[in-house]
Formats: sequence, structure tokens, C-alpha cells
Amino acid sequence: MKSFFVSFEGPDGSGKSTVIQQMVTQIAPFLKVPYLVTREPGGSKIAEQIRQLILDPANDAMSAETEALLYAAARSQHMKETVIPALLEGKIVFSDRFVDSSLAYQGVGRDLGIKQVKQINDFATKGIAPDLTIFLDVKPEIGLARIAKQRSGQEDRLEQEKLLFHQKVYAGYQTVIKQYPERIQVIDANRLLTDVVDDCVKLIIKRLPKELLKD
Ligand code: TYD
Repeated sequence: MKSFFVSFEGPDGSGKSTVIQQMVTQIAPFLKVPYLVTREPGGSKIAEQIRQLILDPANDAMSAETEALLYAAARSQHMKETVIPALLEGKIVFSDRFVDSSLAYQGVGRDLGIKQVKQINDFATKGIAPDLTIFLDVKPEIGLARIAKQRSGQEDRLEQEKLLFHQKVYAGYQTVIKQYPERIQVIDANRLLTDVVDDCVKLIIKRLPKELLKD
């Protein structure tokens, strides 16, 4: 059965969650099949529990390897319980973050290497990749400034990392984007929210198989 898998990526503070919410409202009337919105780390009961563990600011002793493996573990569970069943039912899946986050944050941000992190994730995902990935492009300085404004003092463990870490993550994303130029499409997210959402809607409609769209 035809299905379609879209992931959204970007630095912290790129506005992914808001963009996804508004995109879904706008795109829903055009879709012939049901859709599912999910997120990582999380998207299933067990994966949400792993999320708590990873993002808890108290867990500052966590090694980079443990962090990478926990993200992969959460992803494996998310695939098994949520993403794969939805794709098998012919749904369109929109995921707030997926493997590229691990490649950029753990592979480059934490210096584990993109290749190594990809290997553990291939094991976790059984090699299933999104059909389309939208990278919401904002410089890390701007993303962090947005977060500081929105939830100062309540940042999670990764958001609390220094600017240098987030600059490495951003550079990591640039490398990953170059590796997958067809799958990953970059949208300038340093603009009005409505413009960013419009561009996402247009791009997804262009890429969706015709069978999944209303006539
Ligand atoms: P996210 O849920 O997007 O953050 P929020 O909704 O609070 O803005 O992601 C949580 C954090 O986890 C974010 O800093 C990115 C990080 N992350 C990784 O480092 N590796 C991964 O594989 C994933 C999925 C997220």
C-alpha cells in the first residue's frame, strides 16, 4: 500500500513543532488518506520514557555513547509501535525529528562520527528512511535566542549546551544535507511563520504520490 514518510529537522529553536502543527492544518484538506503526527525522541509510551531520561538536566554525567544509544533505542521503539504500523496502513507520517538529528547532534555535536551513529541507527530503523526531510534553517544563535525568550530557566539538557555545541550541530546538518541532496530540502525558517508554513505545504504536496492526494 502506498504511504509517505516526512521528517522535520532543524536546530533547537527552529520552530519545528509550531510549523508542523500549522502545516498539518493547512494540508489536511488535500489528503486522500489519514495522517499521523509524531515526534522523536518519543512517539510511543516506552520511547517517551526514554525521552525523559535523555533530556533530564540532572543526567549531566551521561556519556555521548549512552546518549546516542538511547536516542537509537527510543527510535527503534517508535518505529516498531508507531511509524511502521502507520506506513503499513497507507498513512502519511509526519515526524518531528528522525535519524538526521542523531547524525548532527551525536555524530558531529558529540564527536561520535556520522558513520558510527548511522550504523547504530540502521540497526534501530531496519534501514527505513523518510521519503522527504524538511530542514528548517535558522542559525544556532537565533534558535537559542528564541528558546531563551520562550522558556528561560526551563531548557532541557541539550538546549542547555553551549553555543559552540549548537554550532557544531549546525555544521553537522550541513554535511548530512550534502549527503542526501534529494531527500533533504532546506527551507529558510528565519522568516514570517506563515511564509515558512506555506513553503512546507507546497513542497510536501509537490512530493506526495498523486494517489495520496484528493483529485
Ligand atoms: P525536540 O523534541 O525537538 O526539542 P523541543 O521540542 O524541546 O524543542 O528534541 C529534543 C532534543 O533532542 C533536541 O535538543 C535535539 C535532541 N536530539 C538529539 O540530540 N538526537 C536525536 O536523535 C533526536 C531525535 C533529538
